[in-house]
Amino acid sequence: MNDVVDVHRPVSGDVIDLILDDHRLFEELLRNLRDASSDRESVRDALAAVLVAHAEAEEKYVYPKLRKRSAVGTHEAEHGEEEHAEGHEALLKVLELKGTNTKAFDDAVEELSGTINHHLAEEELTILNPAREELGERARKDLGEAFLEERNRQIDSDCGALANVRKLVARSRKEGKLDEDK
Ligand SMILES: [Fe+2]
Ligand SMILES: [Fe+2]
Repeated sequence: MNDVVDVHRPVSGDVIDLILDDHRLFEELLRNLRDASSDRESVRDALAAVLVAHAEAEEKYVYPKLRKRSAVGTHEAEHGEEEHAEGHEALLKVLELKGTNTKAFDDAVEELSGTINHHLAEEELTILNPAREELGERARKDLGEAFLEERNRQIDSDCGALANVRKLVARSRKEGKLDEDK
């Protein structure tokens, strides 16, 4: 990916603060992606990288830890993973379009905005609120470190590249996390 847009690379922090910071970053990048006067290709690359890196890090470390601590139920965690798969599917549509100033691009960005905003609201309400109650300061810091290590490793391995997002969507479809008719 190019480095025109800053994707923020903290190395430590409270896991809930770090996740919320990323959510605000997604909102900012989505807003710029909707703005036809911005460098939409660079914004798209940056958004793809952080979206995928964030979701992978949540699924690898945050959701399992919260399930173990009974902070969230299996249903919430599985639902979160389905929404990540839907987000990646909507992201793939945006990545597959060559031109960025077309009606097709606007439509794909509108769908991506809706899918991501829905997930952010639901995750903050049903996963982060209980996590705040359940995890002490130390656990939140340790989990923050694990989350960031995976997030930054994913960004370094170009996780937002078209080929990788295609692979992730195909895997989710195989695992039944996506509706077959889409
Ligand atoms: Fe998140
Ligand atoms: Fe998430």
